[in-house]
This record gives sequence, structure tokens and C-alpha cells, in this order.
Amino acid sequence: MVEYDKDAIVYPYITEFIRGEIPKRSGILKELEDYARENSVPIVQPETAKLLETLMCLKRPVRILEIGCAIGYSAILMAQYLGEGGSITTLEWDADMTAMARENIKRAGLSDKITVINNDAKEVIPTLSGEYDVIFLDGPKAHYIHMLNDCIRLLKKGGILIADNILYKGMTADEEHVIRRKITIVKRLRHFISAQMQRDELETVILPLGDGVTVAVRK
Ligand SMILES: C[S@@+](CC[C@H](N)C(=O)[O-])C[C@H]1O[C@@H](n2cnc3c(N)ncnc32)[C@H](O)[C@@H]1O
Repeated sequence: MVEYDKDAIVYPYITEFIRGEIPKRSGILKELEDYARENSVPIVQPETAKLLETLMCLKRPVRILEIGCAIGYSAILMAQYLGEGGSITTLEWDADMTAMARENIKRAGLSDKITVINNDAKEVIPTLSGEYDVIFLDGPKAHYIHMLNDCIRLLKKGGILIADNILYKGMTADEEHVIRRKITIVKRLRHFISAQMQRDELETVILPLGDGVTVAVRK
């Protein structure tokens, strides 16, 4: 029996089918999936992981920026598809998570390719420069909207902005699902989605996959 979230945004049997088709992982990625499940660390859902891998395989990015590293799972996953000389900068404000991520990245033999910056992404992003092929937003959902201008500034033409959890257990799409204490996050996520859809510099799609993902290409 495949496990799925009770807050899934699509019918559970659809999730069960999709997850049943995803080949089981081995090595460090499997270890990190097990650790995340046993310790309630929020990593990308299996179908979102496959979307990331597919996009990375297509793009073969040289520079990736990730906001929200946790224990390094998605960074290690994406690193498999880096182009020649490629690197990932990933931001994580929690010191314990950062230490675990650095250790996991070291064990994966990727310390020369992945740099974890232990700081608040809201402070770091405005200071970054250069162009990125991929930006993966998977950190503070209430602040995606505040990061959008910088993400567009930092994206290379043809670069991809991927944002996870944008449907937020369905709350973004339907008022009746909204939990009172999440109202601010939900309102800001709605604003973030609309802003992306309306920006002339982006071509954006909303995918009801995992917890909801937007994929936007910088025109
Ligand atoms: C969903 S987890 C990231 C999971 C990771 N991308 C993966 O799939 O393996 C979100 C992470 O963002 C971090 N975070 C939240 N707000 C942040 C902020 N303002 N700056 C940096 N990191 C933040 C949290 O501590 C948490 O570890």
C-alpha cells in the first residue's frame, strides 16, 4: 500500500497510482527519504521530486539557487543533473538542518558542487547577483511573493522558476479549506500565483502535483 497525505490535493487513488509507478530509490536519497519520514522533515513529495528531476534532465543547469534546503534532499537530487562545472547554492536558516544538510552533501560526495548558506533567505536573496538557470522556491511560503522580483532579476532568459506548495493542501484554491491561522500565508500564495501569471517576463503553469507547483520560464 502506497502512503499518501490525507491533505492531498488530488484524489488519493491518483496519488497512489503515480507513486506506485515511481521506481524505488537507493543509496543516500533513500536514506534521506526514510529519515525525513521518520523525523517529520518536510522534503519534496515523490511526484514533485520526479518533476524536478525531469526539468533538470531537460535543462542541465549550470547554476541553481534553492530557497529551503532542509536536510539537502532536493539539492542532492538536482545535483545529479548539473551541467559541466555546475553548482547549487541553497539557503537554510535553521542551524541544525544546515549541519545535517552539509553532512549529507559531504557523504554524497557533492561538497564541491553544493553550498549551503545558513541565513534567512529574505536577507540573502537581495544580495545575490549573476544569473541562475533554475531557482527552486521551497522555503517560507508567506514570502514567495516578496521574493518574486529578485527571482526574476536573478533568472537567466530561458531559466526556470519552480515554486512548491503553492496549492497548500488545497487552501489556496478554496475558501472552505482554509484554516484560520493560515489565512495570511494563503492570501500571499494567491497573490504570488496571480503575480507570476500576470508578469510579462514569465510564462507560468500551475500544476496540481504534490502540494501544487508553479513552473515559470523567464522569457
Ligand atoms: C520544505 S523544507 C525544504 C525541503 C527541501 N527543499 C527538500 O525537498 O529536500 C523548507 C525549509 O525552508 C527553511 N526555511 C523556512 N523559512 C526560511 C527562510 N526565511 N530562510 C531560509 N530557510 C527557510 C525551513 O527551515 C525548512 O528547512
